[in-house]
Amino acid sequence: MVKATAAVVAANAEAITAVFYPNMFAAHPELLRVFNKGNQASGEQSQALAASVVAFAVSLIDPDAPSFDHVKTRIAYKHVSLGITPEQYLIVGKFLIGAVAEVLGDAVTPEIAAAWTEVYWLFAVILIAEEAKLYQQAGVDPTRPLRPYRIARRIEETQDVVSLVLEPADGGPLPTMQPGQYVSVFVDLPDGSRQPRQYTVSSTAFGTRLQITVSRVKGVDGAPDGQVSAYLNDQAKVGDVLDISAPAGDFVIGDEDSPLLLASAGAGITTVLPIVEHLARTQPERQVIIAHADRTAGDHALRETVLHVARHIDNFSAYTWYEQVDPDDTGAQVGYMDLSTLDLPADLQVFTCGPLPFMRHVRSTLLARGVAPENIRYEVFGPDLWGPTLERAAG
Ligand SMILES: Cc1cc2nc3c(=O)[nH]c(=O)nc-3n(C[C@H](O)[C@H](O)[C@H](O)COP(=O)(O)OP(=O)(O)OC[C@H]3O[C@@H](n4cnc5c(N)ncnc54)[C@H](O)[C@@H]3O)c2cc1C
Ligand code: HEM
Repeated sequence: MVKATAAVVAANAEAITAVFYPNMFAAHPELLRVFNKGNQASGEQSQALAASVVAFAVSLIDPDAPSFDHVKTRIAYKHVSLGITPEQYLIVGKFLIGAVAEVLGDAVTPEIAAAWTEVYWLFAVILIAEEAKLYQQAGVDPTRPLRPYRIARRIEETQDVVSLVLEPADGGPLPTMQPGQYVSVFVDLPDGSRQPRQYTVSSTAFGTRLQITVSRVKGVDGAPDGQVSAYLNDQAKVGDVLDISAPAGDFVIGDEDSPLLLASAGAGITTVLPIVEHLARTQPERQVIIAHADRTAGDHALRETVLHVARHIDNFSAYTWYEQVDPDDTGAQVGYMDLSTLDLPADLQVFTCGPLPFMRHVRSTLLARGVAPENIRYEVFGPDLWGPTLERAAG
């Protein structure tokens, strides 16, 4: 039944999610404080939800479907950072299945409805189980997923990037975290709304404080400026308290010896510093290449900090590209990142983070140079619209 109707559901996915979210928020306005308003406005969250359900359905009906593990882990970590509970799956299920019936109308026979209800709950139980495991591993009570953190310092990194150094306001120790993980930060905005956003833990400093580094998002083509990044850049002050989740995410390096390439652009640099810090502390002999692209040197946050920490790594090289280069800046090349001629060691592991077109470019260049697809890991700073289709497209 799912096989026969998957194409129709996929073709109507956008219409279905366009009905689903407003109906759910009308009945449960409290969820507006958990869902990201920007991702609702851009439609990215709807697309990510639809793409994941379709990818899951395909994985059920196609024995050769690519592994679903990465998509599952990504969603589960995001949910856990937002404190999603099993009970809420009843709400989402009711409104999602209701939206399928509303959009497809009479085409949805009772058998079709039953088949897609089954798909939803098969997916839901997988996620609920994964999330229960992640809550337990992090020692987090899902009914109280956040801790208060006080802003101890602000570091103005560039005109549009601020680092906030945060210490637990409850007197407890920092949670354990792996370099490359993010936290969800909940902000009470001046208009009375509350909104979460994810920020990579850009440094753990000396183990008693954690740092996030927030790049201001500017609205383009008449769209409004990013709400939370503007608030954190312009209004958050030392002494303010923010509610923050336990660290989450699977964009983390292992402790094997293979050489690493960290390829970042713009705000993606926030994933590079904690990984370099970690390697300097634990594996200073491991080969590390960093490649970063930015608009100008003035936009390149954390540049000096990364280079400073990297002095403790024995085999380290850095490459930089700017769209506009100051003639005195001999350390940077002009233009977009070009990895086609870089010396690449064997068995290279790649971690890339930046805008989607940038990461697509990095991935395709490296695949063409013989890097194995499973050795290329990526982090999207928004709903992941890439993962559910990636292996298929590449294969
Ligand atoms: C895992 C992860 C890690 C991340 N790590 C970092 C990090 O370390 N540093 C960092 O700076 N960011 C990071 N991000 C991104 C961060 O979470 C936010 O997405 C970012 O700060 C923008 O949030 P905002 O509230 O400022 O923008 P939003 O208000 O959410 O706006 C986002 C976009 O939507 C557009 N938009 C909003 N409303 C409308 C509308 N009505 N109509 C049309 N368009 C609209 C805006 O113009 C903007 O382009 C990360 C994201 C993820 C998922
Ligand atoms: C089977 C059921 C579900 C599926 C398939 C699903 C799928 C997804 C996907 C694909 C994402 C984007 C992940 C990313 O790439 O960042 C996501 C995020 C999210 N989900 Fe779910 N989800 C489900 C259930 C729920 C439930 C029960 C809730 C609770 C109300 C919920 C709340 C959220 C929120 C708040 C986000 C973040 C939204 C954003 O940042 O814009 N989800 N989910």
